Amino acid sequence: MHQLRQAVAGSSALPDLSGVHYAYSHAAYEAASDQRASLQTWLPRELPPLLGAGPLRVIGVGVGDGSVDAPLAAALATNHRQVEYVGIEPHAASAAGFEARLGSLDTGCLTVTTVAGAFDDYEPAGSADLVHFVHSLYYMNDLGATLDHALAMLRPGGLLVSATAPREPLCVLTELLSPCVGHRLWCAEDVTEELAARRLEVWSETMLAGLDLGDVLTAPHGTDEPVLDFLVGARTATMTAEVREQLIVYLTEAAVFSNPGVVPHPIEITIARVP
Ligand SMILES: C[S@@+](CC[C@H](N)C(=O)[O-])C[C@H]1O[C@@H](n2cnc3c(N)ncnc32)[C@H](O)[C@@H]1O
Repeated sequence: MHQLRQAVAGSSALPDLSGVHYAYSHAAYEAASDQRASLQTWLPRELPPLLGAGPLRVIGVGVGDGSVDAPLAAALATNHRQVEYVGIEPHAASAAGFEARLGSLDTGCLTVTTVAGAFDDYEPAGSADLVHFVHSLYYMNDLGATLDHALAMLRPGGLLVSATAPREPLCVLTELLSPCVGHRLWCAEDVTEELAARRLEVWSETMLAGLDLGDVLTAPHGTDEPVLDFLVGARTATMTAEVREQLIVYLTEAAVFSNPGVVPHPIEITIARVP
């Protein structure tokens, strides 16, 4: 990391991942990891028992194309339970994907609303039972204000759920290389600290997963470049040879001992209940 930091300090900032390339490289990255499949199982299994039996109002923040939300919405809208599910997503094409994916669920109990915009500007019509952020808190300008905004939307007893990566080797890399956006990259530790400061009942679980870097380590200019782009949160095509070399050394050292192509890709799920 020391050598990588030195190489980065001597080079220009990398270009941002924006719009279409963000969504495209995100899809490639998720396809290289077993984390999403675990989330798609964990959330529909663990959240419904925490939410009671009545009708529900759910707000998903930064829902992307709805890949994680669809199984959760389907699990919640069972046994004739009415579910109002709002998905907030500023990237228009991803928001359209969310709408299509949730709209195609075969249940008569689900009402889906898509908000193609940022969370900061959203004001809900009524109080929610669940507000969740799956891999989206990193990007918020002000983490404390975002959590307060979400907590204010919840009814007493409602749940705030954050699925955010801990500040471990992959997040440390993103923090270093992403051109970021006027604030630090918020990680799971920041979320739990903010929630603890609000004296809420909070519990967390770390889900282990692995990101298969495939050819990234041996042929970093190859077809896996979108995976590398999303991993560092920037376009890597213009990366200097020195930074690239140190990046590959860092990733090689971060890899799982028994499986040199795979780096640990954990996610921390934190749940807070509003009193
Ligand atoms: C890593 S993706 C996660 C998408 C989805 N939750 C999933 O796990 O597949 C992060 C998402 O957060 C969205 N996002 C970024 N800033 C946001 C904001 N201010 N309000 C709401 N969503 C935001 C991005 O557009 C992106 O789709």
